[in-house]
Amino acid sequence: MNGVVRAREALAEALGALGATLRHHRDLGTAELALEGAYLLSPEEALSAQERALQGCRKCKLCEGRTTIVFGSGHPRAEFVVIGEGPGADEDAQGLPFVGRAGQLLTKMLEAPGVSFSRDEVFITNAVKCRPPGNRNPEAEELAACAPVLAAQLGALQPKVILALGSVATQSLLGTKEPIGRLRGRVHPYGSAVLIPTFHPAFLLRNPGQEYKRMAWDDLKLARREYDQRRTR
Ligand code: URA
Repeated sequence: MNGVVRAREALAEALGALGATLRHHRDLGTAELALEGAYLLSPEEALSAQERALQGCRKCKLCEGRTTIVFGSGHPRAEFVVIGEGPGADEDAQGLPFVGRAGQLLTKMLEAPGVSFSRDEVFITNAVKCRPPGNRNPEAEELAACAPVLAAQLGALQPKVILALGSVATQSLLGTKEPIGRLRGRVHPYGSAVLIPTFHPAFLLRNPGQEYKRMAWDDLKLARREYDQRRTR
C-alpha cells in the first residue's frame, strides 16, 4: 500500500470517528458544539485532555470539600461503562473510583462467573467527580455542573452498554424521577448505547438479603448479554 492510500485511509477513519462522536452528542440532545480540534484525538488522548482540563474545577460547591477530582479509571476504549453516584472518602483520598467497601463489592459483581469483566477492561466513573460532604447525595445543581464532563467522557469512550448504579446516577442520566426498583430489570435506549440500571453496591451492603442480590445479579447478566450482542471490539 502506498503512502497516499494509507493517508486517505487514516483520514477516512478519523472522519468516521468524528461522525460517530457527533451523532452520539446529537442523540443526547446537543444542538451546538464548540469546535476546538479535540475530535481528532484518540479516546486515550481525549480522556487525558479532559482530565487535565478538569483540574482546579470550581463549577459547583463540591470543590470546597474535595481532596481530589475523581475522573474515572479503566480502559480508554471500553465499550462497557459503569457509572456510580459520586466519590466517597476512600475515592476522594486515592483519586480513583470505587475503591472502598462498595467498590470491592462492585469488583466482585463485575468479576462474577457469567459476568466476567475485569476492572481493567471496563471504564468506571461517577455522575459527579468530587465527594459530596458526609457522603450525602449529590444535589441537582452539582449533577448538572458535572453532566458536561460525563457527556464528554461518553463521547470519547463511545460505549455500547452503560451500567448505572443506583437511583441518583440512573435518574440523572435518564432524566426521570421513577424509582430504581421500577427502572431496573430493563434495557433503556441511551444515544447509540443502552443503559441498564441496577442497585448501587452500597445499597446492597446495607440490605444484605437475597432478594436485592438476586435482582442485581439478573441486571448484571442482562448487561453482559447486551454487551456480547453490541460490542464491536
Ligand atoms: N460510591 C459511588 O457512587 N462511587 C464511588 O466511586 C464510590 C462509592
